[in-house]
Amino acid sequence: MSKDTLTVTDNRTGRTYEIPVVENCAVSAMNFRQIKVDDDDFGLMVYDPGFKNTASCVSRITFIDGEKGILRYRGYPIDQLAKKSSFLEVAYLITKGELPTAAQMTEFQYKITHHTLLHESLKDFISSFNRDGHPMGIVASTVAALSTFYPDAKEIADPESRQLQMYRLLAKMPTIAAFAFRHSLGQFFVYPDNTLSYSGNFLSMLFKMTEPKYEPNPILEKVLDVLFILHADHEQNCSANAMRSVGSSQVNPFCAMSGAISALYGPLHGGANEAVLRMLRQIGKKENIPDFIQKCKKREVRLMGFGHRVYKNYDPRATIIKELAHQVFEVTGSNPLLDIALELEKIALEDEYFVKRKLYPNVDFYSGIIYQAMGFPVELYPVLFAIGRTAGWLAQWEEMLLDKDQKIARPRQIYLGEGERDYVPMDQRG
Ligand code: CMC
Repeated sequence: MSKDTLTVTDNRTGRTYEIPVVENCAVSAMNFRQIKVDDDDFGLMVYDPGFKNTASCVSRITFIDGEKGILRYRGYPIDQLAKKSSFLEVAYLITKGELPTAAQMTEFQYKITHHTLLHESLKDFISSFNRDGHPMGIVASTVAALSTFYPDAKEIADPESRQLQMYRLLAKMPTIAAFAFRHSLGQFFVYPDNTLSYSGNFLSMLFKMTEPKYEPNPILEKVLDVLFILHADHEQNCSANAMRSVGSSQVNPFCAMSGAISALYGPLHGGANEAVLRMLRQIGKKENIPDFIQKCKKREVRLMGFGHRVYKNYDPRATIIKELAHQVFEVTGSNPLLDIALELEKIALEDEYFVKRKLYPNVDFYSGIIYQAMGFPVELYPVLFAIGRTAGWLAQWEEMLLDKDQKIARPRQIYLGEGERDYVPMDQRG
C-alpha cells in the first residue's frame, strides 16, 4: 500500500477506503463523496464553516507560517521587501511572479503612472455620494462602476486585456481614494502628478491645496510606500477569497474587486485599523486599560488589532509597522495614543487570556496610529489597506483564472430545515 494515503473506515458500514494525500498536506474533499451508507446516499461532505482547515486553491503567491510569524511574497521575506523594495516593485513581483529588471520596472512604472486618470463622469459619480458617506462604500461602488467604462474588461481569457485591467486598477485606486477623501471635505479634486512617486502622487491628490506643486515629505512618502508593501497580499484571507469567489463566475475584474473591497471593509478584516483607533480613543488614558481588558475577557468587546486566524505568533507586519511609527513621529510629533497602544500591548501579552489563545498584535494594531499622525481621517484607513491589497487581489484573481482545477465557487450545505410540506393559504395560518 502506498504511504501517501489515508485509510478511512466508515463504522456505519464497516467499509474501508484509501484516500490519496496530496502534496503531503491535504486530501481532496471529493474523495469523501464515495463514502456512502447505501446507493441513494449523497456521500460524505466535509463541513468547515469559515474555511478553518480547508485549502480552497493551490497558490504560488504568498507564504505564511503563522506559528513562526513568517510572511513571504513569492519567496521573498517581507522584512527584506519592506527595507529594500518599493510598492510598485512589489506589485510587479506579486502579480508577475518575479522581481522586475530595470527595463521591466521602467515600463511597469510608466504604465501605472499613465493610467491614473479617471473618466470625468466618475467625478460626478463620486460627488453624488453623501459627504459623510464612508469612503469604502464609495471606493467599492466606483471600482464596480469602472466596469461600465471599460467593457473590454470582460475579456478575461485574453492575457493582454487582463494586464490592461491590472494596470488600470493599480493606477486608479489612489485616484479614487483621494477623490472620495476630497469629496468628504467638500474640496476640489486634485489630478494626478506624473512626476511624483506612487505614494507621493497619492499624498498630492489628498492634500494639495493652492501651491503650484505639492512636495511630499520624503519620510512620510516612504513610510506610506512601505505600508502599501506590508498590505500587498496575505494569501487566502477573506477579501482574497471574495476576489477569487466572485471572479470565479467569470465576471470582469472591476466587479470582482468591488466584492473584495466590500469584504475588506468589515471590522474583522481591513476595517480593524479604523476600529483600533476608535478603541484607543475610547480607552482614552492608560488607567482605563485594565477595565477594558476585563471587558475583552468577558467577551463584551474584542481587543481590535489583536488575534489572527493564521498568526499564532507576532504578525511580522506589526513588528515592521511599530518601527515605522517612530520614524513618523519624528516628523509629526508624538501621538498620545501610541502610549496607550504600547501599554495595552504590554498588558495583553502578559495576560493569561491572550497568552492561552495566542493572541498577538496584528498589522492593524499600529497602522491606525501612523495614519492618524499622517493626517488621514479614520474612515480612510481601510481604503489605504485596499490600495496596497489591490496587487494581491489581482494576482489571486489571475492565478484563479489560470488554474485548470478551479471551478465556479459553489459550496455545499448541510440542510437541516423543514422537509416537504404543503402550502397553507394565508387565512388558514395560525
Ligand atoms: N480580542 C479578544 N478575544 C479574541 C480576539 C480579540 N481580538 N480575537 C480572538 N479572540 C478569542 C475569541 O473570543 C476566541 O476565544 P474562545 O475560544 O474562548 O471563544 C478565540 O480567541 C479564537 O477566536 P476566533 O474568533 O475563533 O478566531 P478567528 O480565527 O475566527 O478570528 C480574527 C480571527 C482576526 C477575526 C479575530 O482574532 C478578531 O476578531 N480580531 C480582532 C479584529 C482584528 O484585529 N482583525 C484584523 C485581522 S489582521 C488584518 C487582516 O488580515 O484582516
